[in-house]
Amino acid sequence: MADHDRIASAVAAAWSQNRDVTGGANADYIPALATVDPDLFGISVVTVTGDTINAGDANTEFAIESISKVFTMARAMDEIGSDAFHSQVGTDPTGLPFNSVMALALHGDKPMSALVNAGAMSSVSLIPADSTEDRWAKILAVQSAFAGRTIALSETINQSEQTTNAHNRGIAWLLKAAGYLYDDPVGVCDVYTRQCSTLITTADLATMGATLANDGVNPLTGARAVHGENVPHILAEMTMEGLYEASGDWAYTVGLPGKSGVGGGLMAVVPGRLAIAAFSPPLDSHGNSVRAQLAITQIAATLGLSLYRKPHEADGQNAGRESSIRLATAGRQK
Ligand code: DON
Repeated sequence: MADHDRIASAVAAAWSQNRDVTGGANADYIPALATVDPDLFGISVVTVTGDTINAGDANTEFAIESISKVFTMARAMDEIGSDAFHSQVGTDPTGLPFNSVMALALHGDKPMSALVNAGAMSSVSLIPADSTEDRWAKILAVQSAFAGRTIALSETINQSEQTTNAHNRGIAWLLKAAGYLYDDPVGVCDVYTRQCSTLITTADLATMGATLANDGVNPLTGARAVHGENVPHILAEMTMEGLYEASGDWAYTVGLPGKSGVGGGLMAVVPGRLAIAAFSPPLDSHGNSVRAQLAITQIAATLGLSLYRKPHEADGQNAGRESSIRLATAGRQK
């Protein structure tokens, strides 16, 4: 079978076999996310040659949430260099929830990873800017470059998050006190909250991932979104922290760098080949979408995509491994 047909058949099977899966719950600590239809389920694959395959609600917009951290990390690294980024934010897993204050306390209030809330705010503050609006424009620009279309804020999601983000504001001030926030905590937390409140589809998200798979060049527009030398650093960080405390299980089971968001989105990247994106709102207790994890696990297994195996072995050799994925109990952990 040609690559396109194999991928299309794996995507169609993952959609139809997981659409009725129950379990998990919408995030409700951001009130606007609690009201999203929990039955929504979309899957997209975009290859480095620009081939696009969609299933289900692939053109329904949802909040990017923590997946935005990847693109802010990319922009900050491009602007200040990976060495400075490494020393100022840190690039290690925390093994703790994405908004953990204990993770900070254990390391002298150093964030450790750009993919947890603390490190993401630190990253926002490292993007050189003359004003909050200037910094926000740069973040929208990098999200748009990765997606290949103009990405915009959801006023509804942003309003909901800005009025319920007291915990993140607290983290911003802790970082400031420890010397790991490089601008005003109020403005930085505002921009961080906005970057989480933009709307994307799985077709966008797979394009964003395919841009990473393609060394930083968007396969649909041909435009560079991030310096190629920074891509391996970003993918390494996604491997270590992309699904928070479940990152190790994900690497063990799926073998691909991934990134989740509490809006229900999840992407996985196969360097040099493609990216898979899935979206469905119900989350497990780590804040990762239940159906999206199952779907991507199944597609990766069917197509033999794990980075830790010899490529291009017999199709379907790993089929069935998806059943071993550990799904934590319903509801999101604070
Ligand atoms: O800061 C927050 O808590 C949210 N805006 C984003 C958290 C998130 O998406 C965690 N990911 N699974």
